[in-house]
Amino acid sequence: MIDSDFARELLAGLARRPRQIAPKFFYDAAGSALFDRICELPEYYPTRTELALLNERAPEIAECIQESVGEGFGDGADIVEFGAGSSRKVRVLLDALPARRFVPIDISGEHLHAAAEELRADYPGLDVHPIAADFTRPLELPALPPDAQGRPAPRVGFFPGSSIGNFTPPEALHFLRQSAALLHGGGLLIGVDLVKEPARLHAAYNDADGVTAAFNLNLLARANRELGANFELSQFAHYAFYQPGLQRIEMHLVSRRAQQVRVCGHVFDFAEGDSVHTENSHKFSVGGFRALAARAGYVPGPVWCDAERLFSIHWLALPH
Ligand code: AVI
Repeated sequence: MIDSDFARELLAGLARRPRQIAPKFFYDAAGSALFDRICELPEYYPTRTELALLNERAPEIAECIQESVGEGFGDGADIVEFGAGSSRKVRVLLDALPARRFVPIDISGEHLHAAAEELRADYPGLDVHPIAADFTRPLELPALPPDAQGRPAPRVGFFPGSSIGNFTPPEALHFLRQSAALLHGGGLLIGVDLVKEPARLHAAYNDADGVTAAFNLNLLARANRELGANFELSQFAHYAFYQPGLQRIEMHLVSRRAQQVRVCGHVFDFAEGDSVHTENSHKFSVGGFRALAARAGYVPGPVWCDAERLFSIHWLALPH
């Protein structure tokens, strides 16, 4: 157990000051299920806003992608979804854009394979090729044979949900550069949450039913389950707030009292009020995000926003 990425990063993160752990470790099976519940919450506007936008604009988005890729579109795209989760939103894209293959990539294998089975049943002609992996690490995709006219399938990346916001700014740039190399000649369709009134943001990460709190605390529950740690969940508080200077929500787990916790044979001391920083969720302006994408080598294309300008979807093209 101590040789898992989670064990290594948790031990290092608890020893560091400030204490921190990467948000990718939220997503074991229980965490992925809690995240699915977050997406249904009335306070959590990103999922339903992005889905409504995708539904409304799907024909226009599909046309834009086909035009951008140009002649080489051939028999259909090779769609690659980063952090696919339950692959709900990609169905809108699959219904609008001819596709030869769908490659969902997600760190939570169990969740990924269940979603892939459902997609195979609903899209019988589609080659669904799930990859259980950490997409922040370098990846290679198995090549698709060219179509009958000898044209390779263009790669179309899909990264919805504003998951880009969970990276630090250098990590976001690194992800965009790495995805640009993987998607050579195609492009990336990406959902990006926008800067807005702090009260709206605060509510989205402090829901009345405590689902976000349970999602945050699941990190400690996961350490107890997988690493035999002895976190007492009732002795840590979920704390999420908006930092306007950094344009981000920060999530923390704050110790309610002085306590000692044992993880993989290591003992960690917490004073009352000590925090573990578990997530950042950056918010962007449309212009700021386009500038970031351009630095990574993309050619920013059309942007679709809802009427309240809560959320944006960007097409980022790649030169071919
Ligand atoms: C996955 N990610 C974009 C979510 C977000 O809004 O940053 C994760 C989340 N954390 C708390 N609520 C939702």
